[in-house]
Amino acid sequence: MLYRRLGRTDLQVSELSYGAARGATQEPKQFIATVHACLDAGLNLIDTATGYDNGDSERVLGEALVGHDDALIETKYCPYENYSPAAKYTGSPEALISSAEESLRRLRRDRLDILLGHGLRTLDTLDQFMNDGCYDALAKLKQQGKVRFIGISELSEADGTHQVLQRAVQTGAFDAVMLTLNFVLQTAADTVLPLCTQHDVGTVVMMPLNQASKQSGLVSVEAALECVRHHVSQGNLPDESPYADPALFDLLLPYSVPEAALRYVLAHDVTTCCVGTRSPERLAQNLQAVDPPYLDQARLARLRELFGGIERQVL
Ligand SMILES: NC(=O)c1ccc[n+]([C@@H]2O[C@H](COP(=O)([O-])OP(=O)(O)OC[C@H]3O[C@@H](n4cnc5c(N)ncnc54)[C@H](OP(=O)(O)O)[C@@H]3O)[C@@H](O)[C@H]2O)c1
Repeated sequence: MLYRRLGRTDLQVSELSYGAARGATQEPKQFIATVHACLDAGLNLIDTATGYDNGDSERVLGEALVGHDDALIETKYCPYENYSPAAKYTGSPEALISSAEESLRRLRRDRLDILLGHGLRTLDTLDQFMNDGCYDALAKLKQQGKVRFIGISELSEADGTHQVLQRAVQTGAFDAVMLTLNFVLQTAADTVLPLCTQHDVGTVVMMPLNQASKQSGLVSVEAALECVRHHVSQGNLPDESPYADPALFDLLLPYSVPEAALRYVLAHDVTTCCVGTRSPERLAQNLQAVDPPYLDQARLARLRELFGGIERQVL
């Protein structure tokens, strides 16, 4: 496993990190086995959130990580009533502080490595978060040593061109951000990643497989073709060749679609590619993607030609 510097935090983070969004409630034993397989493979950053599995993700992680104090945990406070793009902003400094205290309790830690504002989705609500005491509360937790580093994540379904992160990164207020980058939403490569490099902000990439379900996403040829069909039907791609060609993804061979998708992310100037799975076997497959040079220039150029114009996320 190779490690990359997480911007100004100076933390050395494994190129592949673990997204703990699913599995803690339904299959806690399997979830713990997967977390342990991650640690054994050298992954040292785990992403969770208060809202994942209603707190079970943090709670079961707390159990899994007893005796693994070196594992870095990133968790989040969501200042909205839910995860939908139109959800009402409900952030408050009091709620943020009590959410962080709950996270510490569930995770059985006395400090959080990284705490993010979760899913900031409009410029207006970013401004609210910065000015209503929420940001000050984050900064205070850092000052008190309860949190080592602070940042925000975006909601790419609402902000496919990363307006929120572009503004946030330039304030200089954040140590790290979590952002979407994958080969069917490439916009971050030109917009927010250069700003992160310039401002020395660490970058944790989410949705490398476009938050796949079995039906649509970058997990198989069939699911990737379905994702392309969604883009065509929403006018994000033209209804013409080669987008309807069943052999569209042959260009990725000999890589599978998910392996190529992870390689695509790692070929960029990002700190770590965060992917979720509920099985150690899947994790073993994903570990195949971590050998440099990741993806060659010819495939990167072709993927850009095919999908680089997409500016909206379609799940
Ligand atoms: N706004 C935000 O802050 C935000 C939003 C979204 C995600 N996140 C974070 O980012 C992490 C990564 O996001 P994600 O899009 O990867 O979602 P995810 O919720 O972690 O799901 C990934 C999906 O892809 C499947 N998968 C993984 N590797 C595969 C492979 N090699 N072949 C086939 N299927 C594979 C997994 O299925 P199995 O479980 O069956 O293996 C899982 O269903 C999340 O876990 C979460 O921590 C943050």
